[in-house]
Amino acid sequence: MAKLTLNINGTAQELDVEAGEPLLYVLRNGLGLKGPKFGCGLSECGACTVLADGKPLRACIVPAASLAGRTITTLEGLGTLENPHPLQQAFIDEQAAQCAYCIPGMIMSAKALLDRNPEPSDEDIAWALAGNLCGCGTHLRIVRAIKRAASTMRETPIDSREGSA
Ligand code: FES
Ligand code: FES
Repeated sequence: MAKLTLNINGTAQELDVEAGEPLLYVLRNGLGLKGPKFGCGLSECGACTVLADGKPLRACIVPAASLAGRTITTLEGLGTLENPHPLQQAFIDEQAAQCAYCIPGMIMSAKALLDRNPEPSDEDIAWALAGNLCGCGTHLRIVRAIKRAASTMRETPIDSREGSA
């Protein structure tokens, strides 16, 4: 066991982690953050995607202990039921999920994309989400949702939104 401090969704968390314990296990089992999902466990599906300092990271293979001092954002850090992030709202509005298992990872990859590219083309979106697999085949709706969210985020000043982590 090792002591570790991580900033997770805006809060400094003091954690005890096993050597080599993946961040995903710490988030889900230790902190009860069930947004990031366990899919393949092999860095191949993207279901476990979170952001580390704003960049997508596969939480299933990265040891938590290697992330000391980094800022981690999970789906729970984006918005709430009462005040969803524009991406969360857009995925609802476009009904961009069937089973929804892939959706948290999709949204986190999309968040990183929109933070660096506020007006992405379809091709930009396809590249950004190439590592996020959807077995249900909702890709067209996912692209529409991301474009809808991008439009909302361009039109709405960031200071007027909560959940803009
Ligand atoms: S569960 Fe991490 S990439 Fe599949
Ligand atoms: S909605 Fe089922 S895996 Fe994507």
